[in-house]
Amino acid sequence: MQNAIKITDSIYWIGGNDRETDLFEGLWTLPRGVAYNAYFINDEKTAVIDTIKADKLSDYMERLVSGLPEGRTIDYLIVDHMEPDHSGSISIMRRLYPEMKIVGNKKTLEMIDAFYGIKDGTVEVKEGDVLDLGHHKLTFAMIPMVHWPESMVTYDTTEKVLFSTDAFGGFCALEGGIFDDELDMSLYEDETLRYFANIVGRYSAPTQKAIAKVRGLDLKIICPAHGPILRSNPKHIVDLYDKWSKQETDEGVVVVYGSMYGNTKLMTDAIARAACEAGVKDVIVHDASRSNLSCIVRDVWKYRGLVLGSCTYNTELYPPVATLCRTLKNKMMKNRYLGICGSYSWSKGALAELQVFAEQGGDWKLVEPTIEVKSCPKEPDLELCRELGRNMAAAVKSPRE
Ligand code: FEO
Repeated sequence: MQNAIKITDSIYWIGGNDRETDLFEGLWTLPRGVAYNAYFINDEKTAVIDTIKADKLSDYMERLVSGLPEGRTIDYLIVDHMEPDHSGSISIMRRLYPEMKIVGNKKTLEMIDAFYGIKDGTVEVKEGDVLDLGHHKLTFAMIPMVHWPESMVTYDTTEKVLFSTDAFGGFCALEGGIFDDELDMSLYEDETLRYFANIVGRYSAPTQKAIAKVRGLDLKIICPAHGPILRSNPKHIVDLYDKWSKQETDEGVVVVYGSMYGNTKLMTDAIARAACEAGVKDVIVHDASRSNLSCIVRDVWKYRGLVLGSCTYNTELYPPVATLCRTLKNKMMKNRYLGICGSYSWSKGALAELQVFAEQGGDWKLVEPTIEVKSCPKEPDLELCRELGRNMAAAVKSPRE
């Protein structure tokens, strides 16, 4: 039997750790798993904040039942976010607690009907409404598109606890500790950036609006829907999300190549070496065929410079590089520098598509020269690659104007 874990005298963590699912949303690798956090408030009226992914129901129910005093029921289920990693057990909760009121905003309630066919026993809340549990007074703030249109946060004005849904969350299961002061946060911050870049980053502008709301709150504890509970310095995670969603970048260059027989790799190796010799310490090289896409996206989000190199494959961009370009375009990245190079043997194609990406794939400032070689790079080609590496190094020394 798993137990509820106390956060304050009357607030409990009742979430679960998922180390079995390989891919979050069927897309993003989970080498260290992911936590689905949910919370129980024991008051004159009881409340649960969010449910859990359906296949983790037993963890959630065991924890919930362990925290629920004998003879008590659940009065409110507050639904902050409808993605099924959090809403997947609403139906069973309704069957177990038929008198329980399901609390959500207008869009949430529409989605609950669409996903689970539940229309009755709901309470619609709006921005600033208060739900009085007795000791705890909960209020609600809408944070649309962080990460879905219905997303909202719940703030306990009594204990200054923010239940922040996907905002301020990250990948990585909770490894024994559930609080930031119980864990090595360097690993979690890395996984939080990977989560932000791949899941939330596209919605950076809405994230900025959400942060403006959160900055006005007196915050003692942040309880996100994924990742550690932040109680030692909750402002730190807000600052990180603020930086990432402003698309502020660090000095560094990410070099990604797609290469069948190593000739394009010769070009990007020359670029990476030249950038390093020009003084850039953080040069990260990825083989697009082998590096995990989510890790490439994380690194591109972090650093100011990106170099893409691709061979031509069947007259087009090499497929793993094409997938990366499509993904980066979807993330709507800004404020970065881009260098491009390509190769071909019997038909051109790759460099032309990279040029289209440079113009239409986001807010990239192209760093010259662009380089295209036939079959394999010769010394003059490699010298052009070194020139690109040096120019990129000079560019990433300071943020774009
Ligand atoms: Fe963790 Fe957008 O769901």
